[in-house]
Amino acid sequence: MSDTVHIVEVGPRDGLQNEKTPISVADRITFVEALIAAGLKAVEVGAFVSPKAIPQMVGSADVLRGVSHHTECELPVLVPNEKGYEASQAAGAKLIAVFAAASEGFSRANINCSIEESIERFRPVLARAKADGVRVRGYISTVLGCPYEGEIKPQAVVDVAKVLWDLGCYEISLGDTIGVGTPVKARQLLRAVAGHVPMANLAMHFHDTYGQALANLYAGMEEGCRVIDSAAGGLGGCPYAPGATGNVATEDVVYMLEGMGIATGVDMAKLVAATNVVSGLIGRLPVSRVAAALNAKKAAGKA
Ligand code: HMG
Ligand code: MG
Repeated sequence: MSDTVHIVEVGPRDGLQNEKTPISVADRITFVEALIAAGLKAVEVGAFVSPKAIPQMVGSADVLRGVSHHTECELPVLVPNEKGYEASQAAGAKLIAVFAAASEGFSRANINCSIEESIERFRPVLARAKADGVRVRGYISTVLGCPYEGEIKPQAVVDVAKVLWDLGCYEISLGDTIGVGTPVKARQLLRAVAGHVPMANLAMHFHDTYGQALANLYAGMEEGCRVIDSAAGGLGGCPYAPGATGNVATEDVVYMLEGMGIATGVDMAKLVAATNVVSGLIGRLPVSRVAAALNAKKAAGKA
């Protein structure tokens, strides 16, 4: 496969939204700056959600303002409703992401409403975004399993994907929120959704709880998917997905892609440096295998 893949780095949002250690706006900006310096072309910088629900994302407006001069990089932010949309626009967001779920249980836990109600909340957001020239990405969570309902049928994902696509989302990101998927299921899911939304407009957002994320991504790539969400250092998790660990690590994805002859435009040394920045902030070593290997090599004086 010699072509290109678009990586959407979600570390500053998905990666930090579940962290116990409070991270200042200035440190979040430093992290985003380091990711952009590494060559990433899309970095999700925050979320305009309830501060009671996700206190870690308070200050997202200031993070966005602090990095918005980087016009070379897409800077998406999460928006759950019109209130969030208004706040995102006051901060100058040009790209937002609404987020739905494939299971009622997760929808209720995460955004306190049914799937249908969430769509009704997104409808005016998408209409206003269209009028304002703001692009909207649509996430669907629990596409390969739900912490409250177990297995999820591809048709449940297809149903939500169709609605988000028809509402005007330019891309649908399929979230294996709790990282339970395996390659054959990931492949079947991509195939099913691509029957209704063009493959070019699908993204894979796989968490790595069971160590399957890279294999699932590879399977999805074989189906033709070319957009991958990942988080530096393998950070991440969702407070409403008990037991789920981080997103697939950006370093691991970049290493795999470069090994496949797919240029990512990402400088690995700078990416590991960005991971080390955030690792220092949260006081934990990265779970990324590639970051660990390269840090060990450097410590041994071999890099
Ligand atoms: P609600 O309680 O149903 O909303 O929450 P409400 O409209 O009744 O408002 C309740 C309070 O929240 C009010 O404040 C509102 O003003 C405030 P109060 O009067 O009590 O002081 N409020 C807001 N404040 C700031 N910004 C807003 C906003 N909206 C209401 N936009 C709501 C519904 C969606 C707001 C809430 O449940 C929420 O914010 N949830 C956060 C969900 C979240 O961020 N989850 C993590 C991200 S999703 C994810 O990680 C999955 C993903 O990575 C993909 C994958 O892995 O699957 C994307
Ligand atoms: Mg996620």
